Amino acid sequence: MDQDIRVRDVRDDDWDDIVALEAGAYTSLGLSEERSALESKARASPTTCFVLEVRGRRAGYLLALPYPALAFPELTRPEEAVFRSPNLHLHDLVVAEDLRGAGLGKRLLRQLTARARQQQYEQISLIAVEGSHGFWSANGFAPRPGVVNSGGYGPGSVYMSLALRAEASSSPVPPSRAQPSQQIESPTPVGGPPSGASARDEVG
Ligand SMILES: CC(C)(COP(=O)(O)OP(=O)(O)OC[C@H]1O[C@@H](n2cnc3c(N)ncnc32)[C@H](O)[C@@H]1OP(=O)(O)O)[C@@H](O)C(=O)NCCC(=O)NCCS
Repeated sequence: MDQDIRVRDVRDDDWDDIVALEAGAYTSLGLSEERSALESKARASPTTCFVLEVRGRRAGYLLALPYPALAFPELTRPEEAVFRSPNLHLHDLVVAEDLRGAGLGKRLLRQLTARARQQQYEQISLIAVEGSHGFWSANGFAPRPGVVNSGGYGPGSVYMSLALRAEASSSPVPPSRAQPSQQIESPTPVGGPPSGASARDEVG
Protein backbone atom coordinates (compact mmCIF):
# COMPACT_ATOMS: atom_id res chain seq x y z
CA MET A 1 0.00 0.00 0.00
CA ASP A 2 2.94 2.29 0.70
CA GLN A 3 3.54 3.23 -2.91
CA ASP A 4 -0.13 4.28 -3.17
CA ILE A 5 0.29 6.91 -0.46
CA ARG A 6 1.49 10.41 -1.18
CA VAL A 7 1.72 13.52 0.98
CA ARG A 8 2.07 16.74 -1.01
CA ASP A 9 1.52 20.48 -0.71
CA VAL A 10 -2.05 21.80 -1.04
CA ARG A 11 -3.23 22.89 -4.51
CA ASP A 12 -6.10 25.20 -5.46
CA ASP A 13 -8.21 22.30 -6.75
CA ASP A 14 -8.02 20.46 -3.41
CA TRP A 15 -10.42 22.67 -1.51
CA ASP A 16 -13.74 20.97 -2.32
CA ASP A 17 -12.37 17.73 -0.89
CA ILE A 18 -10.70 19.41 2.09
CA VAL A 19 -13.97 21.15 2.96
CA ALA A 20 -15.86 17.85 2.69
CA LEU A 21 -13.34 16.02 4.88
CA GLU A 22 -13.48 18.83 7.43
CA ALA A 23 -17.27 18.87 7.52
CA GLY A 24 -17.33 15.08 7.94
CA ALA A 25 -15.01 15.29 10.94
CA TYR A 26 -16.43 18.33 12.72
CA THR A 27 -20.02 19.18 11.81
CA SER A 28 -21.46 16.77 14.36
CA LEU A 29 -19.22 18.34 17.04
CA GLY A 30 -20.31 21.87 16.10
CA LEU A 31 -16.69 22.73 15.23
CA SER A 32 -16.82 22.99 11.44
CA GLU A 33 -15.27 26.11 9.86
CA GLU A 34 -16.13 28.16 6.80
CA ARG A 35 -14.20 27.36 3.63
CA SER A 36 -12.68 30.86 3.68
CA ALA A 37 -11.32 30.25 7.18
CA LEU A 38 -9.70 26.98 6.08
CA GLU A 39 -8.25 28.47 2.90
CA SER A 40 -6.78 31.37 4.83
CA LYS A 41 -4.54 28.99 6.80
CA ALA A 42 -2.91 27.66 3.62
CA ARG A 43 -2.63 31.15 2.16
CA ALA A 44 -0.81 32.23 5.31
CA SER A 45 1.69 29.34 5.13
CA PRO A 46 1.48 27.22 1.96
CA THR A 47 4.66 25.26 2.71
CA THR A 48 3.29 23.85 5.99
CA CYS A 49 -0.07 22.62 4.66
CA PHE A 50 -0.46 19.18 3.07
CA VAL A 51 -2.88 16.87 1.35
CA LEU A 52 -2.77 13.10 1.76
CA GLU A 53 -3.53 11.06 -1.35
CA VAL A 54 -4.28 7.35 -1.14
CA ARG A 55 -4.60 5.59 -4.49
CA GLY A 56 -5.28 8.95 -6.12
CA ARG A 57 -8.04 9.87 -3.68
CA ARG A 58 -7.72 12.89 -1.41
CA ALA A 59 -7.94 11.11 1.93
CA GLY A 60 -6.74 13.66 4.45
CA TYR A 61 -5.09 17.00 5.03
CA LEU A 62 -3.04 18.97 7.52
CA LEU A 63 -3.05 22.76 7.93
CA ALA A 64 -0.37 24.53 9.97
CA LEU A 65 0.79 28.13 10.16
CA PRO A 66 3.14 30.24 12.26
CA TYR A 67 1.43 31.59 15.35
CA PRO A 68 2.72 33.03 18.61
CA ALA A 69 3.05 30.36 21.30
CA LEU A 70 0.00 30.11 23.55
CA ALA A 71 -2.18 31.92 20.97
CA PHE A 72 -4.35 30.25 18.33
CA PRO A 73 -6.75 31.03 15.46
CA GLU A 74 -10.42 31.63 16.14
CA LEU A 75 -12.55 28.99 14.46
CA THR A 76 -15.13 31.46 13.22
CA ARG A 77 -13.02 33.77 11.11
CA PRO A 78 -10.36 33.70 8.35
CA GLU A 79 -6.80 34.67 9.23
CA GLU A 80 -6.09 38.21 8.12
CA ALA A 81 -2.45 38.34 9.15
CA VAL A 82 0.64 36.18 8.97
CA PHE A 83 2.70 35.97 12.14
CA ARG A 84 6.42 35.63 12.32
CA SER A 85 7.08 33.15 15.07
CA PRO A 86 9.36 30.21 15.91
CA ASN A 87 6.14 28.42 16.91
CA LEU A 88 4.23 26.54 14.19
CA HIS A 89 0.57 25.98 15.04
CA LEU A 90 -0.96 22.78 13.69
CA HIS A 91 -4.45 24.06 13.15
CA ASP A 92 -6.07 20.92 11.78
CA LEU A 93 -5.38 17.32 10.84
CA VAL A 94 -8.05 15.06 9.36
CA VAL A 95 -7.88 11.54 7.89
CA ALA A 96 -10.91 10.10 6.08
CA GLU A 97 -12.95 8.05 8.51
CA ASP A 98 -12.64 4.76 6.62
CA LEU A 99 -8.83 5.01 6.57
CA ARG A 100 -8.17 5.87 10.22
CA GLY A 101 -6.00 3.67 12.40
CA ALA A 102 -3.57 2.78 9.60
CA GLY A 103 -0.81 5.25 10.50
CA LEU A 104 -1.85 7.93 8.02
CA GLY A 105 -2.36 10.63 10.66
CA LYS A 106 1.11 9.90 12.00
CA ARG A 107 2.48 10.07 8.47
CA LEU A 108 1.04 13.54 7.84
CA LEU A 109 2.45 14.62 11.18
CA ARG A 110 5.90 13.26 10.28
CA GLN A 111 5.84 15.32 7.09
CA LEU A 112 4.99 18.44 9.06
CA THR A 113 7.68 17.81 11.65
CA ALA A 114 10.31 17.36 8.93
CA ARG A 115 9.21 20.54 7.14
CA ALA A 116 9.10 22.47 10.42
CA ARG A 117 12.68 21.45 11.21
CA GLN A 118 13.83 22.41 7.72
CA GLN A 119 12.27 25.83 8.28
CA GLN A 120 13.85 26.13 11.73
CA TYR A 121 10.70 26.20 13.78
CA GLU A 122 11.38 25.48 17.43
CA GLN A 123 8.00 24.18 18.52
CA ILE A 124 4.72 22.84 17.16
CA SER A 125 1.53 23.67 19.02
CA LEU A 126 -2.12 22.65 18.58
CA ILE A 127 -5.45 22.53 20.29
CA ALA A 128 -6.60 18.96 20.83
CA VAL A 129 -10.35 18.83 20.56
CA GLU A 130 -12.47 16.53 22.68
CA GLY A 131 -11.35 12.93 22.39
CA SER A 132 -8.16 13.44 20.38
CA HIS A 133 -5.67 13.95 23.25
CA GLY A 134 -4.62 10.30 23.13
CA PHE A 135 -3.46 10.59 19.53
CA TRP A 136 -1.41 13.71 20.24
CA SER A 137 0.12 12.37 23.46
CA ALA A 138 1.16 9.22 21.61
CA ASN A 139 2.91 11.49 19.11
CA GLY A 140 4.92 13.39 21.71
CA PHE A 141 2.71 16.41 22.42
CA ALA A 142 2.35 17.53 26.04
CA PRO A 143 -0.72 19.33 27.38
CA ARG A 144 -0.45 22.91 28.58
CA PRO A 145 -3.58 22.97 30.75
CA GLY A 146 -5.26 26.28 31.33
CA VAL A 147 -4.32 27.90 28.01
CA VAL A 148 -7.68 27.01 26.48
CA ASN A 149 -10.88 26.23 28.31
CA SER A 150 -13.24 26.51 25.37
CA GLY A 151 -12.36 29.31 22.94
CA GLY A 152 -14.70 27.93 20.31
CA TYR A 153 -12.92 24.57 20.22
CA GLY A 154 -15.35 22.82 22.55
CA PRO A 155 -15.33 22.14 26.28
CA GLY A 156 -12.83 19.24 26.22
CA SER A 157 -10.19 21.10 24.20
CA VAL A 158 -6.65 21.53 25.46
CA TYR A 159 -3.57 23.35 24.14
CA MET A 160 -0.60 21.03 23.56
CA SER A 161 2.93 21.51 22.29
CA LEU A 162 5.96 19.60 21.04
CA ALA A 163 9.50 21.00 21.17
CA LEU A 164 11.60 20.35 18.08
CA ARG A 165 15.19 19.45 18.86
CA ALA A 166 17.65 21.38 16.72
CA GLU A 167 20.03 18.41 16.43
CA ALA A 168 17.31 16.40 14.64
CA SER A 169 17.16 18.89 11.76
CA SER A 170 17.71 17.34 8.34
CA SER A 171 19.44 20.49 7.13
CA PRO A 172 21.41 21.93 10.02
CA VAL A 173 22.08 25.65 9.99
CA PRO A 174 25.06 27.21 11.77
CA PRO A 175 24.03 29.07 14.94
CA SER A 176 25.01 32.39 13.39
CA ARG A 177 22.30 31.88 10.73
CA ALA A 178 19.61 30.49 13.02
CA GLN A 179 16.74 32.95 13.01
CA PRO A 180 13.63 31.89 14.89
CA SER A 181 14.60 33.12 18.35
CA GLN A 182 15.40 36.50 16.83
CA GLN A 183 12.07 36.76 15.12
CA ILE A 184 9.39 39.09 16.30
CA GLU A 185 5.96 37.63 16.75
CA SER A 186 4.28 40.31 14.72
CA PRO A 187 1.71 39.86 11.96
CA THR A 188 1.72 40.90 8.31
CA PRO A 189 -1.41 40.73 6.12
CA VAL A 190 -2.32 37.40 4.52
CA GLY A 191 -1.42 37.54 0.83
CA GLY A 192 1.89 39.28 1.35
CA PRO A 193 3.95 41.49 3.58
CA PRO A 194 3.66 45.26 3.51
CA SER A 195 5.75 46.85 0.79
CA GLY A 196 9.40 46.98 1.69
CA ALA A 197 9.25 43.97 4.03
CA SER A 198 10.75 40.61 3.13
CA ALA A 199 8.21 37.82 2.64
CA ARG A 200 10.90 35.38 3.82
CA ASP A 201 10.79 37.07 7.22
CA GLU A 202 7.33 35.72 7.87
CA VAL A 203 8.32 32.16 8.57
CA GLY A 204 11.32 30.49 10.11
C1 LIG B 1 -6.90 12.14 14.78
C2 LIG B 1 -6.75 11.50 13.42
C3 LIG B 1 -6.17 12.50 12.44
C4 LIG B 1 -5.78 10.32 13.56
O1 LIG B 1 -5.56 9.78 12.26
P1 LIG B 1 -5.22 8.21 12.07
O2 LIG B 1 -4.79 8.03 10.68
O3 LIG B 1 -6.32 7.38 12.58
O4 LIG B 1 -3.98 8.11 13.06
P2 LIG B 1 -2.88 6.96 13.08
O5 LIG B 1 -3.39 5.76 12.38
O6 LIG B 1 -1.59 7.53 12.68
O7 LIG B 1 -2.78 6.69 14.62
C5 LIG B 1 -3.72 5.90 15.18
C6 LIG B 1 -3.43 5.79 16.65
O8 LIG B 1 -3.92 6.97 17.29
C7 LIG B 1 -4.98 6.60 18.14
N1 LIG B 1 -6.04 7.58 17.99
C8 LIG B 1 -6.54 8.06 16.85
N2 LIG B 1 -7.51 8.94 17.12
C9 LIG B 1 -7.59 8.98 18.46
C10 LIG B 1 -8.39 9.67 19.34
N3 LIG B 1 -9.33 10.52 18.92
N4 LIG B 1 -8.20 9.48 20.67
C11 LIG B 1 -7.28 8.61 21.10
N5 LIG B 1 -6.47 7.93 20.31
C12 LIG B 1 -6.64 8.11 19.01
C13 LIG B 1 -5.48 5.26 17.66
O9 LIG B 1 -6.06 4.54 18.73
C14 LIG B 1 -4.21 4.61 17.20
O10 LIG B 1 -3.48 4.09 18.27
P3 LIG B 1 -2.60 2.74 18.08
O11 LIG B 1 -1.56 3.07 17.05
O12 LIG B 1 -2.04 2.51 19.44
O13 LIG B 1 -3.57 1.72 17.61
C15 LIG B 1 -8.10 10.94 12.91
O14 LIG B 1 -8.65 10.13 13.92
C16 LIG B 1 -9.10 12.02 12.53
O15 LIG B 1 -9.10 12.50 11.40
N6 LIG B 1 -9.98 12.40 13.49
C17 LIG B 1 -11.00 13.43 13.23
C18 LIG B 1 -10.40 14.80 13.19
C19 LIG B 1 -9.66 15.13 14.48
O16 LIG B 1 -10.15 14.94 15.58
N7 LIG B 1 -8.45 15.68 14.29
C20 LIG B 1 -7.65 16.14 15.38
C21 LIG B 1 -8.08 17.54 15.70
S1 LIG B 1 -7.26 18.17 17.13
